[in-house]
Amino acid sequence: MAEAVSAFELLGGEVAVRGLVDRFYDLMELEPRFAPLRGLHPTSLDGSRDKLFWFLCGWLGGPAHYERRFGHPRLRARHLPFAIGVRERDDWLVCMALAMEQQGLDEAVRERLLAAFFNTADWMRNLDENRSDAL
Ligand code: HEM
Repeated sequence: MAEAVSAFELLGGEVAVRGLVDRFYDLMELEPRFAPLRGLHPTSLDGSRDKLFWFLCGWLGGPAHYERRFGHPRLRARHLPFAIGVRERDDWLVCMALAMEQQGLDEAVRERLLAAFFNTADWMRNLDENRSDAL
């Protein structure tokens, strides 16, 4: 019987996830269109790179590095200090979509992941943009 394969394994494990995260933050740092998104982050992206890498390993079905270090992710609460609306959500998603493409991820995997990233990123919105359940 075939065993269920996690997205973590489909991608290629920790090396591939680290590569994706590094590409994501390289793009955020280098592409002028992502300057507003970059501006929300600390001067050094080193900590952000590590945290997103640890988080994504678990989120994709691999080892729970983030939880082991920090406990429950409480992602929405941790994003409350940053003003996140539709623009910020979409910038984040475009940056991630480009990173996945440039890392050569299979198209079906990219589509599946982008849909999952959309749900997480949309849930992080905290600006009142005519959404009744926003803060
Ligand atoms: C919706 C647009 C988003 C914006 C504007 C945004 C922005 C930020 C910023 C500014 C930080 C702080 C960086 C730092 O402390 O070094 C951060 C942290 C983080 N973000 Fe996001 N983010 C977004 C979406 C997401 C999504 C979709 C995920 C996961 C799939 C994610 C995962 C994380 C994680 C794991 C951290 C570290 C939390 C911590 O331990 O402090 N973010 N994000």
